Amino acid sequence: MNFIDLQAQRQRIAPEIDAAIARVLSTCGFIMGPEVSNFEKALAAFAGAKHALACANGTDALLLPLRAWGVAPGDAVFVPSFTFVATAEVAPLVGASPVFVDVLPDTYNMDPASLEAAIQEVKRQGKLTPKVVIAVDLFGQPADYPAISFIAKKHGLKLIADQAQGFGCTLNGRQPLEWVDAATASFFPAKPLGCYGDGGAVLTNDDQLAGLVDSIRIHGKASAEDMAAKKYDNDPRYLNMRIGVNSRLDAIQAAILSEKLKIYLDELQKRDAIAARYSKALAPHVRSVPKVIEGGFSNWAQYTIEHDNRDALAAHLKSKGVPTAIYYPIPIHMQEVYSVYPTAPGGLPVTEAIRSRVLSLPMHPYLAEAEQDRVIEAIRGFNV
Ligand SMILES: Cc1ncc(COP(=O)(O)O)c(C=O)c1O
Repeated sequence: MNFIDLQAQRQRIAPEIDAAIARVLSTCGFIMGPEVSNFEKALAAFAGAKHALACANGTDALLLPLRAWGVAPGDAVFVPSFTFVATAEVAPLVGASPVFVDVLPDTYNMDPASLEAAIQEVKRQGKLTPKVVIAVDLFGQPADYPAISFIAKKHGLKLIADQAQGFGCTLNGRQPLEWVDAATASFFPAKPLGCYGDGGAVLTNDDQLAGLVDSIRIHGKASAEDMAAKKYDNDPRYLNMRIGVNSRLDAIQAAILSEKLKIYLDELQKRDAIAARYSKALAPHVRSVPKVIEGGFSNWAQYTIEHDNRDALAAHLKSKGVPTAIYYPIPIHMQEVYSVYPTAPGGLPVTEAIRSRVLSLPMHPYLAEAEQDRVIEAIRGFNV
């Protein structure tokens, strides 16, 4: 049994994927071009976004808006600690300070009360200037965007939805993008919408941000707005208006993603059915099965239970041939290199408690009922 089975998906759409790759090879159009712009259009349509800008990975997708907004040394970026390191890493990458916020004990997503307290404390101390909040759709379910966006707006902060894991999730039938300035995606192969290498995207309804991200992702090239403002004869790629980076999605990856996006909704339904089946069978046998926010639809990037004897359960499951994973054993604020940055007042008690109880089980759209049953039986067997 695989924790995530990329082969199963590949078998379903192998001819389409192979044809997509062959299409790129036949034109040798490896960088940007129609494959990338067609994928961006399809992605934007899927997410109800005005703009989708593909980039090299989900980390850059977070970094690009920070660069576009001029986030710099002395600024505070509020992030959960119970997430993949990239969510916080982008703050020091622009010289800013992450400020770690606790999560809610049931959804593992950013706790709005902890966020509010952290912002007030940073303002009271006066050493850092609050600038940005990055909320994460951890394990695939939407954060509490109505509450978080209310707080961000009240304090005049930009808000990013880090949807590296959660791309495709909704809240009350609405995309997270409806509440935020930018939403980001990662197409790392193990992500629900993964490519065959690294990839990412920034989604936004803000024309100005889209223009800046487009420029910064390609070495600060002149944007359409820059070109309109002045009269240039040069190729805009060789007019560098700001300090940028090289962060493009390869055309081959865009072609692959275009095919995968066509079956994504169907895959999300399959994941949801598996999660429902797991939860029904496992609820009596573990401390907790996942709880999705009211009105939320999760893409089930991870299916994560809590158990008081987590490590022994993981060892037992391994002995039964059931792979598991721990996300995340060391929260970011407890990593030595990040321990210098501030945390919300009162610390992060929820984050520190759940890290020793969480265990993620095999989850992918093609997990057969017989395999699900093996996981369920192995967990039941641990408790007897
Ligand atoms: C929550 C979160 N943010 C950001 C990232 C970074 O994405 P990438 O690995 O594509 O840079 C990841 C994925 O690994 C993630 O899980």
